[in-house]
Amino acid sequence: MKTNWWKKATIYQIYPRSFQDTNADGIGDLPGIIQRLDYLAFLGIEAIWLSPVYQSPNEDNGYDISDYQAIDPDYGTMKDMDTLIEEAKKRNIKIIMDLVVNHTSSEHPWFQSALHDPKSEFHDFYVWRKDIDGRPPNTLQSNFGGSAWTLVPELGEYYLHLHAKEQPDLNWENKMMRYEIYRMMNYWIEKGVGGFRLDVIDLIGKEPDQLITKNGPKLHELLQEMNQNTFGEYDLVTVGETWGATPEIAQLYSDEDRDELSMVFQFEHINLDKQPGKRKWDLKTLDPKELHHVFSKWQTELTGKGWNSLFWNNHDLPRIISRWGDDQEFRVLSGKMLAIYLYFLQGTPYIYQGEEIGMINYPIKSIDEVDDIESRRMYDERISLGYTEEEIITSINAKGRDNARHPMQWDDSKQGGFTTGIPWLPAGDSSEINVAAALDDPDSLFYTYKKLIQLRKELSVITEGTFESIQTEDAAVLAYIRKHDGEEIVVVVNFSNKPARFLLDATQQIKEILIHNYEKEISQTLLPYEAYAVLLT
Ligand code: NOJ
Repeated sequence: MKTNWWKKATIYQIYPRSFQDTNADGIGDLPGIIQRLDYLAFLGIEAIWLSPVYQSPNEDNGYDISDYQAIDPDYGTMKDMDTLIEEAKKRNIKIIMDLVVNHTSSEHPWFQSALHDPKSEFHDFYVWRKDIDGRPPNTLQSNFGGSAWTLVPELGEYYLHLHAKEQPDLNWENKMMRYEIYRMMNYWIEKGVGGFRLDVIDLIGKEPDQLITKNGPKLHELLQEMNQNTFGEYDLVTVGETWGATPEIAQLYSDEDRDELSMVFQFEHINLDKQPGKRKWDLKTLDPKELHHVFSKWQTELTGKGWNSLFWNNHDLPRIISRWGDDQEFRVLSGKMLAIYLYFLQGTPYIYQGEEIGMINYPIKSIDEVDDIESRRMYDERISLGYTEEEIITSINAKGRDNARHPMQWDDSKQGGFTTGIPWLPAGDSSEINVAAALDDPDSLFYTYKKLIQLRKELSVITEGTFESIQTEDAAVLAYIRKHDGEEIVVVVNFSNKPARFLLDATQQIKEILIHNYEKEISQTLLPYEAYAVLLT
């Protein structure tokens, strides 16, 4: 296994709109991120995944780009961006750009040209098809609901959009388009960025006529071409958002000899509370043992063959403490348990802003409080299908993306220290949950994250060791062992709010307690959400 900086590093995701506002317009900005770099350096992270800051009409908060080489005025200027890269570098932090190249905004000049002049060279940069008897070319559905095809009556053609109609899909069959993208990526590489997070990259090899969207036949060939023409020669990190990847597919993306990406960011564990065959809104109860089974599968099947991301949260997911922990009585304990479980696995951990202080979901009462395009589209669709308002709001509160997008809580002042203006999404209750309070409390979740990040840098068993799941009788107790070069770590967590039982094998002697979320002896009884990791002799 090669030693790359990103194998021991922890990456912090910033959703710029909600991180820190400095000009009182209620929208976070690049100067705000610069202001908070010392905080991030203190936490110990080594890279920032920056959600999109490019010029965008913001139909999908930047995941609809109208100019890849301009900064959206909401966030600042290109000069601010250069300062961010430079200031981050001084603190040993790299900036990872969010690369959204499955689609552009419908306001991108390429699409505008394609739309107004079917003979333009840009027309074929997108995916167009004729109607079939006055109907869309086929049944492909958008990820945000409804048909993936929109008719342009003046052209008599439909274009493909696997997301909103304002996000037309690029045609990766078109070589000129691909080389334009590579040129743009090189522009950012020359600026000194630390890598790319590749948005829905599993979709670029699509074959729309055969109803293939994910994992199309040319996907890996395309990634190899991209690698050769852009980041291949540099020590950059590249992480692909790869829905529907299996460990075999993950190997294709991330085997170090295949020259594609550094790692996958896959969601199999995240989908375990979804009813099979249904959309993400249709939930079932999470079975912790099933969760452990999925993690164990990825650990055993990818070791030595590829590289995975480790995460509970991002800007598309509800806050994990509200979801699978307890956001009331056991907020801090359950947050620590979730972190301890994840941070001794092989892979690269990602922290989503606010996770390190245990931020929780933001419940809404009515659709008027929702900004997110996905939730709003789902609302319209389900109202027309006869769902009740109450059912839909319940789904949005459980799974809506806005849950993670409310402003970062820096202190207990008005608007949580995020802005002195009116925030674009209301600020949550920061009276207790805020950065200032977390920094003041040596027992806070923040210091658990800080310690875990540090342990990952020090103990090579975490990055390089083998993985074995430990059988446990209690349905809520999850345990595993990592081994490398005579070093052994055992991790045990109680994934529930009730006491449980677990007995370490009598032959296993504890040499050192690496981390434990209760101040008590390790014994057969695990208290609610108790979690620890120990080194064995
Ligand atoms: C995945 C991104 O994470 C999400 O926020 C976005 O809406 C879609 N891709 C479309 O770009």
